[in-house]
Amino acid sequence: MKTILVADDDQAIRRTLELHLVEEGFVVLTAADGCEAVEKACQEEVGLVLLDVRLPGKDGFEVLGCIKERRPTLPVVVVTAYDDMQTAIKAIRLGATDYLGKPVDLDHLDEVIDKIFEMSALARNGVVFQEASDTPYEQNVMVGRSRAMKEVYKTIGAVADSRATVLIQGESGTGKEMVARALHFNSSFRNRPFIAVACSSLAPTILESELFGHEKGAFTGAYRTKPGKFELAQGGTLFLDEISETSPEIQVKLLRFLQEKEFERVGGIETIKADVRVVAASNKELAALVESGVFRKDLYYRLNVVTICLQPLRERKEDILQLVKMFLEKIRLETGKCVNIVPQETMNLILAHSWPGNVRELENTLHRAVLLSHGNVLLSGSLQLEGDRERDRLALVVKPLHEVEREHIENILIYTNYEKKWASEILGISRPTLDRRVKEYGLEDAPKSLV
Ligand SMILES: Nc1ncnc2c1ncn2[C@@H]1O[C@H](COP(=O)(O)OP(=O)(O)OP(=O)(O)O)[C@@H](O)[C@H]1O
Ligand SMILES: [Mg+2]
Repeated sequence: MKTILVADDDQAIRRTLELHLVEEGFVVLTAADGCEAVEKACQEEVGLVLLDVRLPGKDGFEVLGCIKERRPTLPVVVVTAYDDMQTAIKAIRLGATDYLGKPVDLDHLDEVIDKIFEMSALARNGVVFQEASDTPYEQNVMVGRSRAMKEVYKTIGAVADSRATVLIQGESGTGKEMVARALHFNSSFRNRPFIAVACSSLAPTILESELFGHEKGAFTGAYRTKPGKFELAQGGTLFLDEISETSPEIQVKLLRFLQEKEFERVGGIETIKADVRVVAASNKELAALVESGVFRKDLYYRLNVVTICLQPLRERKEDILQLVKMFLEKIRLETGKCVNIVPQETMNLILAHSWPGNVRELENTLHRAVLLSHGNVLLSGSLQLEGDRERDRLALVVKPLHEVEREHIENILIYTNYEKKWASEILGISRPTLDRRVKEYGLEDAPKSLV
């Protein structure tokens, strides 16, 4: 039989709730003050606590804290006359499973209780993560024991210390940047800089000066000499993310650097030497881009001294359980919300999903689910898994061209903080053309949040 503890200092309320719950088939214990409530809640048979906020001895929130310390998975429903948002938020943040206002609506109470016992039943045959997680979250530590990931760790260990160029390939969200960091932070030059450059986010001319620096007067706006990332990364690692997006001109310069370890700043004549370990990443198959002539073959061979391929998550599902554990722990540390029970039903859904966005999608999905869940059980309904990739892709492209153009121009304007000269350079159109489009699409004003 299920036992419910009713903690309230008001005898009339205790009595009403007790009578009702006994009628519903529960065993009922009662407590009239905070200390008694904590003591009784710790008895093993108690499966649920209805907790008043204003209690003599210890107030309800204190009691909640004590209960969560000793029996973290025991569901507690806070019942309060302070039926306001702040109390509700505080109760849920402190780990209450639900929250009810006084006077208690008995039908609503029954619903809440049914739901909680249903969750507990689900949880019993679910995966329970220990209170002190056996998968503690550590920043920059990769998780996963699949054969594919073990190979990755071995390669990292073998090549971290060499200054050999490494190419990391894998779909979006598979952990390429994590591998790049692992290479750097497991090397003997870990105290030197690690600098990442997203090659796809900058226009070719800007990327060139970003990487190699420029001399004063190299182009309009170059008021002073500026060192590039190759110089700044001296002695350390330069991570070139999305290397497939580099222009032919930059590819030539990169090739020269990899061959000779030297380059010139944009507009400069002095040859600069730099001792930098290059790690490049791509979510496109570089070999295929070489075939189609978009990417230089000689550069590909230079980058490809060591290649690390990250498998999509759907091909190493044995890593999912450990990743879920680690992310729930990470999310707990970030948000203070402890969700540590994953019912089998939820786990099945997670395992069946194809995770087109890979580990990043898994993390985001869990984060959202934890924020939406009450109590410490991850219900399948809170997962909100995205549809399959083909459908998403179609949804993305079924739009008229002018709409895509408008969105793109707006994004670039936001990116450049509405510096139209810079925006027109990135867009590769003249300033008057940009002005015309801006007017046509009504993009004159920066959104309020930016100003
Ligand atoms: N094996 C792993 N263990 C722990 N966390 C991981 C792992 N793989 C990926 N992640 C996490 O997933 C997220 C995505 O990883 P990362 O940014 O390294 O992917 P990526 O391959 O560079 O993606 P993109 O191609 O979209 O840039 C990050 O938050 C990262 O911490
Ligand atoms: Mg990345």
